[in-house]
Amino acid sequence: MDTIRIMIEEEKVDARIREIAAQINREYEGKEIHLIGVLKGSVFFVCELAKRLTVPCTMDFMSVSSYGNEKSSSGIVRIRKDLDENIEGKHCILVEDIIDSGRTLSYMIPTLMQRNPASLKLCTLLDKPDRRVRDVAVDYVGFEIPDEFVVGYGLDYSQKYRNLPYIGVVEQE
Ligand code: IMP
Ligand code: MG
Repeated sequence: MDTIRIMIEEEKVDARIREIAAQINREYEGKEIHLIGVLKGSVFFVCELAKRLTVPCTMDFMSVSSYGNEKSSSGIVRIRKDLDENIEGKHCILVEDIIDSGRTLSYMIPTLMQRNPASLKLCTLLDKPDRRVRDVAVDYVGFEIPDEFVVGYGLDYSQKYRNLPYIGVVEQE
């Protein structure tokens, strides 16, 4: 059994998501939002965020694989499951669980921009700026965290711990 140390408590995560939703509600007043969740890590975050949105919103999901080991990505990204809907003319917000090296997003953003959305913003629950190797402009960040491997709230370690309601760190024995 691994030991998980809590980094960000459930109440803090929930409160921060409400703040981000409130900001999005203000900034998108009078518009419709199309949320794009990146499977599987962002699912919990997208759902909690969407529940707090008062502007009309639709949702779609995309799955990408980034070759690498369990704890870091290589930058070679492949679309495993594309979006179901066309995003042309839509105000899209790409929702991620975490930005680490930035490699996944530096592939996804140009790919989505080629499809001519009305706008594309980026929202991430967690950001590890110390690990960045590619520049990405993030519009909404839940929490900036230090360079530690985290799980919970959708994030996994070898597919485990996504269901934890808080953000934690797996302590290696
Ligand atoms: P990037 O391409 O290096 O920015 O990697 C982003 C992806 O790597 C995220 O969407 C996660 O799926 C995964 N990832 C990066 N850091 C962590 C972590 O600390 N815990 C769990 N998954 C992570
Ligand atoms: Mg991910």
